[in-house]
Amino acid sequence: MYEGDARRGRAPVLIRDGRVVDPSQGLDAVADVLIVGGTVAAVGLDLAAPPEAEVVDARGLVVTPGLIDVHVHFRDPGFPEKETLETGAAAAARGGFTAVCCMPNTNPALDTPERVADVVARAKGLPVRVFPIGAISLGRQGAEPADWAGMAAAGAIGFSDDGDSTRSSAVMRRALAWSAESGLPIMVHAEDWTLAPGGVMHEGAVSRELGLPGIPGAAEEIITARDIELARLTGGWLHVLHVSTARALGMIRVAKRDGLRVTAEVMPHHLLLTDEWVAGRRRFVWDEAVVPGPRPDPNAKVNPPLRTEADARALLAGLTDGTFDVIATDHAPHAAADKPTDLRRAASGMIGLEVALPLMLRLVDAGRLSLMTLIERLSTAPARLFGLPGGSLRPGSVADVTVFDPQAEWVVAPETIASRSKNTPLLGMTLRGAVRMTMIAGEVCYRA
Ligand code: DOR
Repeated sequence: MYEGDARRGRAPVLIRDGRVVDPSQGLDAVADVLIVGGTVAAVGLDLAAPPEAEVVDARGLVVTPGLIDVHVHFRDPGFPEKETLETGAAAAARGGFTAVCCMPNTNPALDTPERVADVVARAKGLPVRVFPIGAISLGRQGAEPADWAGMAAAGAIGFSDDGDSTRSSAVMRRALAWSAESGLPIMVHAEDWTLAPGGVMHEGAVSRELGLPGIPGAAEEIITARDIELARLTGGWLHVLHVSTARALGMIRVAKRDGLRVTAEVMPHHLLLTDEWVAGRRRFVWDEAVVPGPRPDPNAKVNPPLRTEADARALLAGLTDGTFDVIATDHAPHAAADKPTDLRRAASGMIGLEVALPLMLRLVDAGRLSLMTLIERLSTAPARLFGLPGGSLRPGSVADVTVFDPQAEWVVAPETIASRSKNTPLLGMTLRGAVRMTMIAGEVCYRA
């Protein structure tokens, strides 16, 4: 599917003495990485720097295949006050991401081959690789199928009505049947629209405390069950987006055990944050300290919502046991005007690209997740599953590389975020883990 591009690093680069973590070859060791002509030439100890090579001192840093996010919202076309392909790509590079897949809930929606082709064309000059996802239904209205084959030919890597579930079960059946033929994923946002309207957060003790309308876990689980059954019926590839409840995870685990072509993703915010954050009690899962935040916090409104501690702990088990194939961010930028304090009027979503790695490193620091598994789910697995470039530092691989300092601390603030939007409940908090260099095909696209 991916046919390469014209990017080629000009001068050789030798990344020296970093901790190289490459799940594609089971490698976790201090080594040098030599990049020549846009590809990895060698990984090993004491490599000689070719003449004119740039030497990057990576002592104390971690060197990995470039991170890949299969779920971002770049709002382009239609919402330049929130994000554009350019600002989104800058946020991706800063967060260590070398490739992202952007969702079609733009204005107009990416529901025709022409609109998909437009994103593909405009993505060419960007600092990171951007791949569009086409809509499942026309206008994302859930009623009539879009032209999947035409969009696939134009460069769509998958199909989704994300932001909403596809209302017509019959359209979903057709989409999954087409997926069985084409091999492309149908990426579903699972939310029963009759159970969720007006809901602004997880329905439970905290929504009752705040007197806010909730979204029950059942809203997600009902559609997850429906779409798994349609995958069983058709043999299509169902990719379940942003799984947030323990029960939805359990359904996916069983579907995989049954041998269905079902994959799933989990978001850092569903692993680390809970519905308590909406009430201004900011405590990371697996941690003790509570940092007071806005109450209620419109930046903690996201869909699916932040759930309970028990859900978050179950999701981590799903990540370590392999039920979750990939980690994605659901980077959902919204302008300040879209996030009024009244949660009923606030848009859903939070930015994710620049905080994903430091959030996930908390789980590594806490001894709950290995760095190898983290990088596998953030790079090697999405590359392999979705046929995207990158995901490996094996000699001969395209040199999409991320270098980060796992110890460096930084404060989340409007001026430290490259995304055009600053909507994150982490504002004012100190995170550990900072990207030092992001590289595409041997060319540096971000450096700090
Ligand atoms: O919170 C969300 N925001 N969830 C979605 O599914 C869509 C996204 C957006 O586009 O803002």
